[in-house]
Amino acid sequence: MAELNLTAVDKIYQSRGKPPVHAVRSVDMAIGDGEIVGLLGSSGCGKTSTLRMIAGFEDVSRGEIRLGSRVLNELAPAERGVAMAFEGYALYPPLTVRDNVGFALLRARTPKAEIERRVAEIASLLEIGDILDRYPPTISAGQQQRTSLARALIRRADLSLLDEPMSQLEPQLRAILRARIKDFLIEHKMTTVFVTHDQTEALALADRIAVMEGGVLQQFAAPADLKERPANLFVASFIGEPPMNIMAGEIAGQEIVIRTVQGEKAFTLPAQAGDRPGEIRVGIRPHRVRVGEGPLKGQVVSNQWLGDQTHLGIEVEGVLLVAVTDGTLNIGIGEAVPVALPGDALHLFDAASGAALRHGEVSAA
Ligand SMILES: Nc1ncnc2c1ncn2[C@@H]1O[C@H](COP(=O)(O)OP(=O)(O)O)[C@@H](O)[C@H]1O
Ligand SMILES: [Mg+2]
Repeated sequence: MAELNLTAVDKIYQSRGKPPVHAVRSVDMAIGDGEIVGLLGSSGCGKTSTLRMIAGFEDVSRGEIRLGSRVLNELAPAERGVAMAFEGYALYPPLTVRDNVGFALLRARTPKAEIERRVAEIASLLEIGDILDRYPPTISAGQQQRTSLARALIRRADLSLLDEPMSQLEPQLRAILRARIKDFLIEHKMTTVFVTHDQTEALALADRIAVMEGGVLQQFAAPADLKERPANLFVASFIGEPPMNIMAGEIAGQEIVIRTVQGEKAFTLPAQAGDRPGEIRVGIRPHRVRVGEGPLKGQVVSNQWLGDQTHLGIEVEGVLLVAVTDGTLNIGIGEAVPVALPGDALHLFDAASGAALRHGEVSAA
């Protein structure tokens, strides 16, 4: 059990004859004992590189990685007390699933009866009890992935690193296993860093989420904070489905002037006392756009019913917004609807830097 600290960690890949790739840029992270952290970002943003540096499979180009009081930088992977489930599984083909899963315990000379008990426990947790006597090349990608995950989790290591651990699984199984894995990690107080590009997985599993883009850590915060208080435009647009509506505008006197994509004045919203004049971006989440009442004139341009909610595309005085409402909404395309953008639902960002300026109050709902 230990805290994990990354201090100004960089990864620069140098290969001969090719320009260097700066994959991770000055990442700082302090992860608490027993905390479950998700590294979230799109493909190529540096998630796997970060995880492999922690595990010791990639050198740290700059910076320091500590687990408790130990500096990990120069330690070999086996000396770090870290268990990792790899993106490509890395199972031993000549060993059965059972022996792959129990491998680390066998090497640590764990008594046979305990190995058997723990293999059975983790196999039942991950639904691989029926394939324990099979060999990796004869099982499906989803089964290989769960075998790899079992092999890492069974160790109950000081630190567990899981790279896209459920990417190959069917959505239903993924949802069930997510809950079971979370219970297992909490029960054994396992400090865990997992990588995913799936925000639902990150929101469901993690105590805190580190959002990465272009090798840069954009924000490291609890799921609710990422939603309610995104640090910048990137995080605001990345977290949430459908994404936050972002409008161009400026603060002028007591007003926020919202513009159309052509740059013409569309409508105004009230500014607040502390707002400084200048170019801004204004964000509002689709489920906070109020349809059916309000001072703005909207016209419906699309209406999609998705089973339990309705996504409406609405042109509001020349600005296209997406609104989400629960249930069905019988508004035809082309119909006029009044719209409100509640002040407490608005997020303001600096137009040039993208940094958040202020957030609406957190809604009780
Ligand atoms: N061994 C390597 N050599 C050179 N470039 C690499 C290597 N591994 C990863 N990269 C590059 O580093 C960047 C980050 O990759 P990676 O950490 O795998 O991202 P992610 O896991 O978020 O998809 C990408 O541009 C990738 O092409
Ligand atoms: Mg990856």
